Amino acid sequence: MARTLLFLLLFLVATSADPPRQPKGSTAMSPADQLAALYKQHMPFNVLVVLPAKESNNDKFGLTMDKARPVIDIAVEDIIKQGILPANWINLTYHDSRYWEDSSLAERYATTGVVQAYCEHRLDAIIGFADSYSLATVAKVSAGFGNGVPVMTTAGMIAQIGSKKNFPYLTRMQGSYRQMADSIYQFLAFKEDNDAKELNYKNLVFVYHDKRRALNRPQTTTEQVTDMASSHCYFSLYAIKNYFTERSDYFKEAWKINTPHLPFDEEAERAPEDIHKWLRIVSQQANGRFFILLGLSNYAAWRKGNGG
Ligand SMILES: *[C@@H]1O[C@H](CO)[C@@H](O)[C@H](O)[C@H]1NC(C)=O
Repeated sequence: MARTLLFLLLFLVATSADPPRQPKGSTAMSPADQLAALYKQHMPFNVLVVLPAKESNNDKFGLTMDKARPVIDIAVEDIIKQGILPANWINLTYHDSRYWEDSSLAERYATTGVVQAYCEHRLDAIIGFADSYSLATVAKVSAGFGNGVPVMTTAGMIAQIGSKKNFPYLTRMQGSYRQMADSIYQFLAFKEDNDAKELNYKNLVFVYHDKRRALNRPQTTTEQVTDMASSHCYFSLYAIKNYFTERSDYFKEAWKINTPHLPFDEEAERAPEDIHKWLRIVSQQANGRFFILLGLSNYAAWRKGNGG
């Protein structure tokens, strides 16, 4: 995985930097030697790694510099050991996004670090990121630096950064929630040309953790709410909702005004009664409605059959 990442990185750096003229006799060289010869004067590639220095509750994946560093080091060594590039091919600089300190200010720390590296002429590529907000801002801005700076990440699955127009040099190693939405659609959504093997669910309710929209959100001001980041759960369901409405006329109509959903904060106080209450609301909007209608019509038929 790390090796693939670095190969990809190498490729992107090579394609984004101004290609120097082909040295003479290069046809006899292996592609790797050619690459090394071509970019000799460009080396080392200056790569900025943007990650939080510490773990925190802000990052549910627990990604930190200390965890990423050994993986990156092994990949760098692999490239050297295999004779693909010389020992000094890469100059890694680690920049703390301070996501551990504040989830909304991380966007600023990450971006200023990147801008500073660019101004000091030490930015050929960017890797890392633990949060989608920093990633989105950096990837949007850095596409305009020079010929565009490649950004590679294992984060950023959210559908909002899928646009090739806004994020032309962004590579997401883990794919995106949109791909997950496709599987979920295949697995459970109602489809016109339905196949008895599929679930074909029509009434779905999204129940998810999200501090910003939570029913059990502690009393907060509007400013505090806008400062809160949306959760991964929210972003994954957002991708599902969009995918369903794009693909299906049924869901486009059913979710036109409102998609049934129940956001709650999994970390805020809640009593078992609250959960009962939420589940009751949810059951009425999901298959519960189906059962109630079915129950009533059966009841009417039963009454008729019994002469009353
Ligand atoms: C490597 O990066 C550091 C900054 O992180 C910079 O000061 C140094 O000049 C770079 N080295 C080369 C050879 O570019």
